[in-house]
Amino acid sequence: MYPFWKFLPAGLAHQLGPLGISLYSSLNGGPTPNWKSFQWRGLTFPNRLGIAGGVDKNADLLLQWPRIGVGFSEVGTITPRPQRPNPGKIVDRDWEHKNLWNKMGFPNIGCKEIKLNLENALEYKSTPWFLNIGKNRTTPNDCVAQDCLEIISHLHHLGDAFVLNVSSPNTLGLRALQSREHLEKLTSQIVAHLKSKPLLIKLSPDLTTEELEQSLEGGVQGGASGFILTNTTLRRPANCPFPKEGGLSGADLKNQSMHILKESLQILGSRRKDLLMISAGGVMTPSDVEERLAIGSDLVQIYSAMVFEGPQFFHQVAEKMNADFLQKRST
Ligand SMILES: Cc1cc2nc3c(=O)[nH]c(=O)nc-3n(C[C@H](O)[C@H](O)[C@H](O)COP(=O)(O)O)c2cc1C
Repeated sequence: MYPFWKFLPAGLAHQLGPLGISLYSSLNGGPTPNWKSFQWRGLTFPNRLGIAGGVDKNADLLLQWPRIGVGFSEVGTITPRPQRPNPGKIVDRDWEHKNLWNKMGFPNIGCKEIKLNLENALEYKSTPWFLNIGKNRTTPNDCVAQDCLEIISHLHHLGDAFVLNVSSPNTLGLRALQSREHLEKLTSQIVAHLKSKPLLIKLSPDLTTEELEQSLEGGVQGGASGFILTNTTLRRPANCPFPKEGGLSGADLKNQSMHILKESLQILGSRRKDLLMISAGGVMTPSDVEERLAIGSDLVQIYSAMVFEGPQFFHQVAEKMNADFLQKRST
């Protein structure tokens, strides 16, 4: 499909995205493609490619995702109370370099409304749901646990796994929660309330090796069941058209995100055991998906590829995986 949304202003294209997905899924939808299906802690993933946090902030499209080929969905970031986006421009695109910029700051309708959307979709659920949780922007860092526990009290029964977002660059001071001390305490408080449901932690690509070691240690000691690597970056490539603040994703995040994945696997070593490792950041082609799996991630997520390549990306990946499988079998 030709990306005609390229000619719309970025903000308008963003607003029309859900409508486009709905239309595309009703015209081209089918059963979820089954490639490299995967089991983890009783969950079945028909395939290993999902949508990243922020794509479906309010659980509006849960029935459409499997129809376009998505193997698992993430909803959110969800906050306890509804909140509006940050003021001013919040999204922009660099088509030449396939980079995306955003300064959204967790706009969402709040956990009580999202609960209704999840409940409405529950009857038709066919793939795992991850619920990504975070604090409202007015909540001080030492009260983050209360915000997270409030969300869990409403949504516990609806998520297959939960994701703690401590890595968005668009909520002031949030990334400080990635320190070992903060993360261990926060993780253990949340894990205690989740009981048997897994908690994953989403980390920033801007961590130094030492900081990454500390974050992984804090998460593991606190009882996390896995990590999502990574969120958007504050770094900018040369001649970048975007402002200094806000997060960059897409093609220029690829190397940073792969580096963090490789370092994390090395740091965890044998402690990885059955921790779920999910790679996100700069996955722009079907070969990129294969590469992340080959490095050792269990699952892969995309956001920017949907913007630049369109919703058919998931079926393109499925075709490549199936073609590779058939070729291997015949040789
Ligand atoms: C417009 C936009 C909004 C995002 N919102 C969230 C969010 O609410 N929560 C979150 O954990 N990540 C959010 N992200 C980060 C993505 O989930 C992902 O980690 C990042 O974009 C890197 O993947 P990509 O290169 O495939 O886009 C957002 C990204 C974009 C571009």
